[in-house]
Amino acid sequence: MPSLRPGPLADPGRWLYELLAPAYDRVSGEAMLYATARARAIELLQLRPGATVLDVACGTGRNHEYIEQRIGPSGRLVGVDRSPRMLQQAGERAAHHRWSNMELVETDVTNLTLRLPTREAMLRRQPGSTPCSARWVSL
Ligand SMILES: C[S@@+](CC[C@H](N)C(=O)[O-])C[C@H]1O[C@@H](n2cnc3c(N)ncnc32)[C@H](O)[C@@H]1O
Repeated sequence: MPSLRPGPLADPGRWLYELLAPAYDRVSGEAMLYATARARAIELLQLRPGATVLDVACGTGRNHEYIEQRIGPSGRLVGVDRSPRMLQQAGERAAHHRWSNMELVETDVTNLTLRLPTREAMLRRQPGSTPCSARWVSL
């Protein structure tokens, strides 16, 4: 039997973004509400070329241009969102910019299991090995 996606009443949050996705970038008030904070938040990550970034609940990928500018083609960007239509917009943005170092994953973020380096693991690092770090910002 084919699996059905949850309807609006079962999961209104998901349904809202599915509905908004095609117009999201035009109606979200980016310039007035978010652009300055978004640029600052990504600056705080101090991303370097080659860095790996996980963008949780990435939506249409509004963060991705800022991130790609910093990590460059040797970096890796993984965008996760549970709305296929928001991800479709993010995919179109990536295709437009020809970013080939990016993956988009459709899942609920509560399903993610992350293994970030602990402070202890970073302190145990062998001299001369590749430095690792993890930072996060919330948008
Ligand atoms: C307000 S939009 C923000 C999108 C993006 N972070 C930005 O700054 O433009 C919120 C996004 O979070 C996603 N979202 C909300 N809850 C989620 C969950 N539990 N798992 C994955 N995505 C989720 C929605 O589908 C939507 O695309």
